[in-house]
Amino acid sequence: MRVTINPERCQGHGRCYDLAPGLFGEDDEGYGRVLGDGVVPPGEEQTARLAVSNCPERAIEIHQEA
Ligand code: F3S
Repeated sequence: MRVTINPERCQGHGRCYDLAPGLFGEDDEGYGRVLGDGVVPPGEEQTARLAVSNCPERAIEIHQEA
């Protein structure tokens, strides 16, 4: 599983890196970004889905073909 953030949708709400700090960080302006290559480590899948469902802009996408 891999996550990405669509930069055209992200408005910097910050819920992704608050809820899933192991998967997301923030850039200098508070916009979300994936850490590393965005591959979700084993055991973090639920956290990734939590971030997806809590992003008000629906900017986070999950890709199963990691
Ligand atoms: Fe952006 Fe959504 Fe995170 S708007 S900062 S991807 S919660």
